[in-house]
This record gives sequence, C-alpha cells and structure tokens, in this order.
Amino acid sequence: MKILVTGGAGFIGSHTVVELQNAGHEPVVLDNLYNASEKVIGRIEAITGKKVPFYKVDIRDREGLNRVFDEVKPEAVIHFAGLKAVGESVKKPWEYYDNNITGTLTLVDVMRKHGCKNIIFSSSATVYGDPAFVPITEECPKGSCTNPYGWTKSMLEQILTDIQHADPEWNVILLRYFNPIGAHKSGTMGENPNGIPNNLMPYITQVAVGKLKMLHVFGNDYDTPDGTGVRDYIHVVDLAKGHVCALKKLAPGSGLSIYNLGTGHGYSVLDIVKNFEAATGIKIPYVIDPRRPGDIATCYCSAEKAKKELGWEAQYGIREMCEDSWRWQKQNPNGYDG
Ligand code: NAD
Ligand code: UFG
Repeated sequence: MKILVTGGAGFIGSHTVVELQNAGHEPVVLDNLYNASEKVIGRIEAITGKKVPFYKVDIRDREGLNRVFDEVKPEAVIHFAGLKAVGESVKKPWEYYDNNITGTLTLVDVMRKHGCKNIIFSSSATVYGDPAFVPITEECPKGSCTNPYGWTKSMLEQILTDIQHADPEWNVILLRYFNPIGAHKSGTMGENPNGIPNNLMPYITQVAVGKLKMLHVFGNDYDTPDGTGVRDYIHVVDLAKGHVCALKKLAPGSGLSIYNLGTGHGYSVLDIVKNFEAATGIKIPYVIDPRRPGDIATCYCSAEKAKKELGWEAQYGIREMCEDSWRWQKQNPNGYDG
C-alpha cells in the first residue's frame, strides 16, 4: 500500500518507515525537518535497501500538501507530524496549537479533497491524564491534561472522531503510545533530541556517554514501590510494528478504533537505571530532585485490545530497550550530526 508518513523523519516515524518497507508497503515521507535530520532518509535506505521518497513540506502548507497528494496519491496517511515537548508547550501554547491542530485540520482537509480518508493518528497515554485506574484500558475515561501538548492530542482525538462520525467513509485509528525508547538494532537510527533531553532514556544515555554529569530523578515520594514514577516503556521497533498491524485494520467500513500501544508492564525510574546499568555495565550516577510539575505516579496499559484485534504484541523486553538505546547513543554521540 502507498502510505504517506507525516513526521516520517522523526524518531517513531523513521522506525515505522523501515517496518513498512519490510512489510512490502511503499511509504513516502513528508516532514518539515523541524525536529529531524534529512540524514535519516539515507539511514533508512541503508537498512532496507529500498528508496524512500521524501518531501520537505509543512503540514500547515496547503499548497505543498496538494502537490504531494497529486503526485503520490496515497491510500492512507500515518500522521506522526507534530511538536511534542511538554515543557516547551507550556511556554509556547500558540505554537503548539497552531502546529498540531491547524496542521492536522489542513492535512485532513487536503486528504478528503483527494479522496483519501484513511488515517492512523499518533496519540498518547497523556490523554488519560492521571488515569482513573491501572492497567489502563481503552475504556478508561480521558482525563485532564496538564499541558498544551497533551490537550492537542486530546482535542485532535475528538476532532478526528467527530469527522469520522459525520462521514463514515473515513477510517480512523487512534493509537495511544506509552513511553517509546530503544532504537534500531543496527545502531544507525534512534532518538535525536535537541539540547538537553526531557525524557528519561535519552537523559540516561547522555550521562552514560559523558555528555551530562548525572541523572536527576524527579521525586522519590510517589505512591509506587520505590517512590519513583512508574511508566510503560516500549521498544520503538515494537511500536513501529504496531502501525503495520493497524494498517491491516484500516479497511473500508472499519470506522473509528482506539488502541493502547504499550507492553503492559510498569518500570520505575530506578528500575530503568538498574536495568540500563546491568545491560551496559555503565554506572549511572543520580541525585533525587523534587517532583517535576505535571508528572503522575503510575501509568501503564492493558495491551489486550491490540493483541486481540490487531494481532500485535510487544516482543522486546527492558534489557533490549536499554542495549539498543545505548548502541545508538554510543555509535552516534551527537545524533545524526556525528
Ligand atoms: P519527533 O519529533 O521525533 O517526530 C515528529 C516529526 O514531525 C519530526 O520529524 C518533525 O520534524 C515533524 N514535524 C513537526 N511539525 C511538523 C509540521 N508542521 N509539518 C511537517 N512535519 C512536522 O517525535 P516522535 O517521538 O517521533 O513522535 C511522533 C508522534 O508521536 C508525535 O505526534 C508525538 O506527539 C507522538 N507521541 C510521541 C511520544 C514519545 O514519547 N516520543 C509519546 C506519545 C505520542
Ligand atoms: N524522569 C526523571 N528524570 C528525567 C526525566 C524523566 O526522573 O530527567 C522521570 C519522570 O519524572 C517520569 C519518568 O522518568 O517519572 C518518565 O519521564 P519521561 O519524561 O521520559 O516520560 P513521560 O511519561 O513524562 O512522558 C512521555 C512523553 C509524553 C507522552 C508520554 C506517554 O514525553 O509526550 O510519555 O506516556 F505523552
């Protein structure tokens, strides 16, 4: 299937393009490179041995999108493009609402005008807010988000749901990702954060490689077994494969579906530190800091619905997630820039 992958040069998008090619699909990448390097296209091609058409276009650029749709004629869109830094979204709410919401509205309008009404959307566990229960099932009520980034995901889920209800020709899958870490086994593709990482695993790997001095653990007084925050970490390659399985579900008349993509296991911050040390033999010095505003104690999913309906289940465990994150960081201490 010919698939337009918005944000396909980013962390999850690039790994998904590899898995799409491996599965025999024809992905085409569209990205404005705001948070990505064009070098990733060559890395994908080196892994799969197949060409990846690439368009440097912003999803808010209607004319640019029209040109791409005229040329590519995709059957479906996997929509990763968006801004995703929680802290930055608090400081720049307009930029987040404009990029994520205006961008998606423009994309969806161009899609329907070109008769392409199949979309898989990157949503997030963040829409559950402080979850009403764990493990979180898809029936868990959506919660109150603590930042504009989270609201864009929650609002976009609602927007896509309303559009599908109004026009049943649309087939929409909302994938709620838990915490993607890890990297491609080759060590040639991985997460490439700008500046000091916000997320736990890239922070740890940068401590390991000597770019940062020590990890700051945000709070050890949560109601969790060791007091530190518990999350459902998932290998990015497993997450990528989840999209390939979801595509099969995106058949005419499939309507609207929602799936959690996680492993169903929760690990604390200190569990991750210990597992990383065991997997790599590198000691990660850390200090306990106050809680980070907006953080919750515990977040992990039930992945049963995706297993039952998509035939998808995460394969990699925490050791491989740590080993693969480290291989990427070690081989590319400055990300795609060297
Ligand atoms: P990423 O920043 O690596 O990838 C996003 C890509 O979108 C980047 O390559 C960026 O250049 C591109 N982009 C941003 N705005 C654009 C625009 N206006 N036009 C065209 N391209 C644009 O992030 P990621 O971790 O790969 O996340 C992919 C998606 O998954 C995002 O929508 C994100 O919100 C969502 N998500 C990520 C996580 C996570 O922890 N990484 C968790 C839940 C959901
Ligand atoms: N943490 C630290 N130190 C750090 C970074 C994180 O102790 O330097 C802790 C956090 O307090 C939290 C855990 O590590 O307990 C995970 O934090 P991350 O920032 O890696 O991930 P979050 O769960 O906060 O959020 C991530 C993405 C969101 C997404 C969510 C989905 O950043 O965009 O996963 O579950 F919505």
